Amino acid sequence: MKIDCSIDGRTLTLSLNSNKPLSLILSENIGDGSAVNHCKGQMCGLCAVLVDGKPMLSCMVPAFEIRGKEIITFEGFQKTRGMKDIEKAYEMVGAAPCPDCYESKTMIFESLISDGVSEPDEILKELSIIRCHCLDPEDAVKIVLKGIDIRRKRRVRRS
Ligand code: FES
Repeated sequence: MKIDCSIDGRTLTLSLNSNKPLSLILSENIGDGSAVNHCKGQMCGLCAVLVDGKPMLSCMVPAFEIRGKEIITFEGFQKTRGMKDIEKAYEMVGAAPCPDCYESKTMIFESLISDGVSEPDEILKELSIIRCHCLDPEDAVKIVLKGIDIRRKRRVRRS
């Protein structure tokens, strides 16, 4: 089937099997070197991307569900100003995800920061889709709050 979508700002029309997982579309059809598809349904949580701004496990999203959607991958996101905000938050809090889950957690932090989610329970619930517990929960909450603050200040400076 033909599927129109946007991936990292590129508008695309892809010819796909309707059930092909997004993680495979990213690695095989788009050539995204950061795309992950290795746990075979074991819910490692390492394949998160943003679909219309919401974090989703790309290996669980079939092609037909991305029709008309805007997808942001870590590969695309890391070139943005938003990534700098999150790197700054990691630095200021003195904590960051481990190399294994860095990309996936960073995408979830981006979603939480851009939605201004400040409730610790909500933050931890979103992060719970990743099985790796490398980050102290208190630090994870601090990263989101710091990221919201950094982004708000940057927007004020720009206006
Ligand atoms: S690759 Fe493990 S949940 Fe997607």
